[in-house]
Amino acid sequence: MGERVSFYDYSTAASRFREDVLDGLRRPRKELPPKYFYDAVGSALFDAICALPEYYPTRTETALMQRHAPAMAACIGARSALIEFGSGVSRKSRMLIAATEPAVYVPIDIARETLHSAAASLESAFPRLPIVAICADYSQPFELPVLERFCPRRRTVFFPGSTIGNFHPDEAVAFLAQAARLAGAGGGLLIGVDLRKDKAALEAAYDDPQGVTAAFNLNLLARINRELGADFDLRAFRHRALYLEAHGRIEMHLDSRRDQSVLLGTERIEFRAGESIHTENSYKYAVQEFQALAACAGFRPRQCWVDGAGLFSIHYMEC
Ligand code: AVJ
Repeated sequence: MGERVSFYDYSTAASRFREDVLDGLRRPRKELPPKYFYDAVGSALFDAICALPEYYPTRTETALMQRHAPAMAACIGARSALIEFGSGVSRKSRMLIAATEPAVYVPIDIARETLHSAAASLESAFPRLPIVAICADYSQPFELPVLERFCPRRRTVFFPGSTIGNFHPDEAVAFLAQAARLAGAGGGLLIGVDLRKDKAALEAAYDDPQGVTAAFNLNLLARINRELGADFDLRAFRHRALYLEAHGRIEMHLDSRRDQSVLLGTERIEFRAGESIHTENSYKYAVQEFQALAACAGFRPRQCWVDGAGLFSIHYMEC
C-alpha cells in the first residue's frame, strides 16, 4: 500500500479469543460472541450470504444508498472525517466517498486481511483520499489516531449493515453513546437498521436453502478447531435460526445432534443431545423504536430512508 494509507492493528490476541470461547462454553446456557465469525473464511461466507436471494438487507440497503446518495451527501457535507464501523470490503462507503469527498476515510474492522485489501483497493480508486485503516474489535474501547491533520470539517460515523442489531438494546445504547463521543458535538451518524417484519421472511433470511448461513455459523466451530486446536465434529452440530417476535430478534444457534464431549486443549466441554450454543442475536427495530433508542445515546433523528417494501431503514442523526 502507498503513502496515503496508514494501518493500525489493535486486533484481538489469540489468548483473548481462547478466553472468550472458554468463558462462553462453560456457561449453563452456552454462547459464543458473533464477532468471531469473521476470520478470512467467515468473511468470505458472509459476503456469499449478502448475495443470497433470501438475505434482503445488503441488497436493500445498497439500493437505498444508491437512490438517496445525494440526500445523504447533503446531510454529511463535504470534507468530513468519515469513520466506518465494520467496513468489511467497504462496498457501501464507496458511494458515500464518491458523493461527499471526505477529508479522510477511517475504516474500522476486526477482519485484518479484508480490511487490508479494502484499503489498498480504495487507495487506487480514490487518488486524493487519505485512509486511516484500523483493525480493531470496536465493541471494546480503543483510541482513534489523531485526525486533525486532515482538517475535517466534522466527523461522521457510518455504521451500515444493521450490525447494531448484534447488540442487546442496552449495549446498543452504550455503543451509540460511544459513537456520539467519537463524532463530537455537531457530528453525524449514518446507520443502517433492519426493520421488524414477518417471521417467515426473517427466518428464511437466516436459514437459506443453500446452507450458506449454516456454513457461516458452523465456521465458528471450524475456526475454534483451527486456531485453538479443538476437536469439534462439525457434522455433530446443526444450524438453527428462530425469530422471537416479542424481543424483535433473530437468534442463531448450533444444536448438538448427540451427547458428546469436545476437547479444547486440555479443557473438556460436555454437550447433551439437543443442547445449543447461542451464536448470534440480530435485533430488528421499527423506525420510531430505533429513534427512541438512539435518543438515549444523545442522537437527534434528522432523516430516515426506507425502501418501498418496508424491509430496511437508514437513519441520519446528529449529536
Ligand atoms: C452482519 C450482524 C448484520 O445480523 O444479519 C447474517 C450477520 N448473520 N446472517 C445480520 C448475519 C447471519 C448480520 N450482521
